[in-house]
Amino acid sequence: MYDLIILGGGPAGYNAAERAAQGGMKVLLFEGRALGGVCLNEGCIPTKTLLYSAKIYDYAKHSAEYGVTFDGAKIDHSAVLARKAKVVKMLVGGVGAKMKKLGVEVVSEYAKIKGKSAEGITVEAAGKEYTASQLLICTGSEASVPPIPGLRESLASGFGMTSREFLDNKEVPKELVVIGGGVIGLEMASYMCSIGVKVTVLEMLDHIAGPTDREISSILQKNYMKKGITFILGAKVTSVGTDCVNYELNGKAETVKCDKVLISIGRRANTKDIGLENLGVLTERGAIVTTDDMKTSVPNVWAAGDVNGKIMLAHTGYREGEVAVANMLGGHQKVNYSSIPSVIYTNPEVASVGETVDSAKAKDIDAVSETITMKYSGRYVAENEGGDGICKLVVDKAHHTLIGVHMIGNYSSEIIFGAATFVEKAMRIEQIKQLVFPHPTVCEIIREAVNEIKF
Ligand code: NAI
Repeated sequence: MYDLIILGGGPAGYNAAERAAQGGMKVLLFEGRALGGVCLNEGCIPTKTLLYSAKIYDYAKHSAEYGVTFDGAKIDHSAVLARKAKVVKMLVGGVGAKMKKLGVEVVSEYAKIKGKSAEGITVEAAGKEYTASQLLICTGSEASVPPIPGLRESLASGFGMTSREFLDNKEVPKELVVIGGGVIGLEMASYMCSIGVKVTVLEMLDHIAGPTDREISSILQKNYMKKGITFILGAKVTSVGTDCVNYELNGKAETVKCDKVLISIGRRANTKDIGLENLGVLTERGAIVTTDDMKTSVPNVWAAGDVNGKIMLAHTGYREGEVAVANMLGGHQKVNYSSIPSVIYTNPEVASVGETVDSAKAKDIDAVSETITMKYSGRYVAENEGGDGICKLVVDKAHHTLIGVHMIGNYSSEIIFGAATFVEKAMRIEQIKQLVFPHPTVCEIIREAVNEIKF
């Protein structure tokens, strides 16, 4: 008998296991694939490893702009993948070691929920049953594969790939088509373009990067067009062939030839075949319905991470997992979904938190916004030859509180944490003005922008 059974050892699951063990619970964690989940094995960390190599290569190609010249910079995709495997192995090993140290029992199997009784909730794995008083479901998500003719066949033949296969593919295609100009599509397109692949992004909407501030997504697009990526916006993919992708643009049938296709058109929660029906857990469009304190519709059953379909980001999963555990232990915590930062690790990086001007308007918030060039930061200018980054603040006019920050330019990924803290704590512009930012840093851009705000 356990206090807590966790299904899934990704960021939501392993972090929750840590917190629960630290809180004195007897924890059993099931992971059928690899500890660390998509994030460590085939998502966040592998892509960051690849993108960092691409960034070094990009800098090498443009080093003369910084007064450094040398000949013959090359990038070896196989070596990049080998380093990626080393990084992943180290981090996954670290998670395993932590579980061991904290006394979390890990079973390397997929488990299925059997039912609930007076004793607790029972799951079954490899013919054995396990019971606990609480169940936390962290089974994550997988790439969506919609019923586009030829798409499934392309995945079966290897012509089409989701990010999972893509991150292990040693072949460098000559021409790559990316279906979906969202986060995954852009990060992969960025890497492939850097290593010399001809990349075409087909995006159904009239802009890339989904909910990102439009001015920022358009700067990102311009940067990538300069690097050679072709963006076809408003493209409705109609079918995938054996050496091409067919799409409709302005009512006209078009084709783009390629030797690989990346399918990155969103992810869907993993709720199939885990036995949710045996408990009657409520789902909506395939995702488990949860409250902000991570409860599901069934008492003592909780869900955290991508499986609840709220914000599919590893760091949301971390927070959701720990909120669930805190509440199991008698706490009263909630996840504040309005201040979760997001980052796109392209070069330049994009980062944002909170409301955009448009989302504030849609919520009838009377907001003012201020946009400044990143060139207000001395360090940004010193380190980004030709950089065209911006920083945009969105401020609630009535309360003078910072409700959104949106940036494009390198180091944004690191700066956004401070910005998210200001948004989370609903800090007033007058309070932020009194903070001291280290000089010279790119984060000073927030101080500069705050000082430009006029009410
Ligand atoms: P996404 O939702 O970010 O983007 C999918 C894009 O595909 C959208 O722009 C959509 O309009 C487009 N699309 C959908 N159907 C299409 C079609 N038939 N033809 C053309 N375009 C189509 O999904 P993505 O990029 O697959 O990422 C999945 C999840 O993974 C997201 O929730 C994302 O936040 C997360 N993720 C986060 C990362 C980060 O934080 N840096 C990195 C990678 C993934």
